This record gives sequence, C-alpha cells and structure tokens, in this order.
Amino acid sequence: MPLHRLRSIAVGVPAVEPVRAFYRELGLDELAPGRFATADGGEQLRLEPAPRRRLLALSVGVDDADDLERAAAALARIGIASERTAQPSGSGNGLLRATEPATGVRVELVVEPRRVQKPAPPLATNAPGRSVRVDARSPAVLAAPPPRPRRLSHAVVGSPDAAASRRFFVEGLGFRVSDEAPAIGAAFLRCSSDHHNLLVQPAPVAFLHHSAWEMDDVDAVGCAAAAMVAADPARHVWGLGRHGIGSNYFWYLRDPAGNFAEYSSDLDVIADEEAWKVASVGLLHPLAAWGPPVPREFLAPDDVIALARGGA
Ligand SMILES: [Fe+2]
Repeated sequence: MPLHRLRSIAVGVPAVEPVRAFYRELGLDELAPGRFATADGGEQLRLEPAPRRRLLALSVGVDDADDLERAAAALARIGIASERTAQPSGSGNGLLRATEPATGVRVELVVEPRRVQKPAPPLATNAPGRSVRVDARSPAVLAAPPPRPRRLSHAVVGSPDAAASRRFFVEGLGFRVSDEAPAIGAAFLRCSSDHHNLLVQPAPVAFLHHSAWEMDDVDAVGCAAAAMVAADPARHVWGLGRHGIGSNYFWYLRDPAGNFAEYSSDLDVIADEEAWKVASVGLLHPLAAWGPPVPREFLAPDDVIALARGGA
C-alpha cells in the first residue's frame, strides 16, 4: 500500500491551555506551545483554538510523488478538488491537500520515507509451563516514571455523513478497510499496516471521539493510565480492557475539552492483505473482548448530544 503512516492530527479546542497540560501529562513531548511529539513519530499532535472541539486536520505519509497524482485523480473521480503544493521546507516531492466534505477535516498526503520503530523489549512474561522471567521481579512492579506513548496510533471521528467520509478516505485517498460494522455505517480504516488508523462513525455532528497513543505493552497502558487517574480521577472514562476489533488493550481518559485519549497496545497488524479476512460485525458485537461495562458517555458524549439537540 502506498500510504504508510498516520503522521499527525490537529485538534481544535475552545481553551488550549488546560488541554496542553493534559497532553504533556499524557507523556507527549511539547516542542512548542500546542505542538507535541512522540518518541517514535516526531511531531504528531497540534492543538489549535476552535469554537468547539473537533478534528481539524490529519496528515498521512506516502511513498512517492506518483501516489499524490493517483490520489488527486481518484479524488477528482468522486468530485473532490485537491491542491498539489511543495512541502513547506521546499524539500521532498510535495504534498496533496484536500478537505473531507462531511466533517470539514483538512487532509494532506505527504511524501516521506517510511519510519522503522525501535523494537520494544521482549515481554518477560511467565505462563504455565513457560518460565521466561526467572529469579527476577517484573519490571512492571518496579518504581519508574510512567511509560510514555511511542507514537500516534489512530483517530476516531464522528461524521454527519459517514458514507461520504468513507468514500473520501477509501476511494479518494486509498485507505484500506480492515473491518466494518455495516449496521451502524462504521468502518475501521488503515493507512499503514496498523489494523486501524482511522475509524469513521456516524454522528449528528462532526467531532473527534478519540485519539489513541501506542504504548509498549499492556503494563505500559495500565501504569500510564493509572498515574493519570491517580492525579485526577475524573479523567477516567473506560478501561482497562481489550477491544474485540483490532485486538488492542485500551484505557480511555478524557481531556479537559471532552476529547477522549486512549492508551493502546498490541493492535492487530495487517501485512498481507490476502491473509487478512475483513469482518463485518453486527450490532450486538461487544466493543470489548473483556473489560468493564462500556460507559454510556463513551457511546454518546454529553456535549455531542447537546450539540445535536441544538444546545451549546
Ligand atoms: Fe481506539
């Protein structure tokens, strides 16, 4: 697949300062006010003032300039204009910009080399008949600073026209469908070998449901989230659990603007498109293979309900 990574997102919030503090505490590295990097992904989050919280922009890495031409032609076939420009630095082979019509999210494709992540240390986990960690305590119980995200994993957006959003990303830009929930019009999309980098779900208004941040393993998810919740219990949303679609461990927190932020690990990887079987899950499919009951707010955030009713 010519698309190879989710590079970054830009998120609009009414009050930037408290949200900046939240993402610093989440473990992101603030390069400049409102601009955050991860250990493996470079700059991946930008916070901008906006009348209400929403995803403003999304950037995707592609292999070469031909991929930009193909995407521009595919977008034109579905009636969407795009703009080809040089990269701001003046280097590289340029980028392609287009706006997703249903959500207003600005999307860019950028030519850049593929990144190779430094492998996480092998899990030293004992199991019946398989002793890997012998004569040593688990590193997970030793005092250490909370683990930090390795990179941006995915974003989930609500769209007032999820079919149009999906057409833009799949037919226009070349995202692949990994799994889908046709009964609710939701699709798990990828622009890399990650099971999903983007999920578009139907919603009465465009909004950012959550951003997800990749951690080394389940202990890192638990340690980091527990530290965030210890500092402010009101941040807790849902976790610890393991999703049924994508298989990832999860723990969701709430930022001061109301966006959810997920610590995630062990997401499915799709390297061979022929080997992966796309699943269509029904309405009764549980959101988690295991974990606490899903909170109502996760399914329908209060501020989104209020917006849909014509409130705030
Ligand atoms: Fe997620």
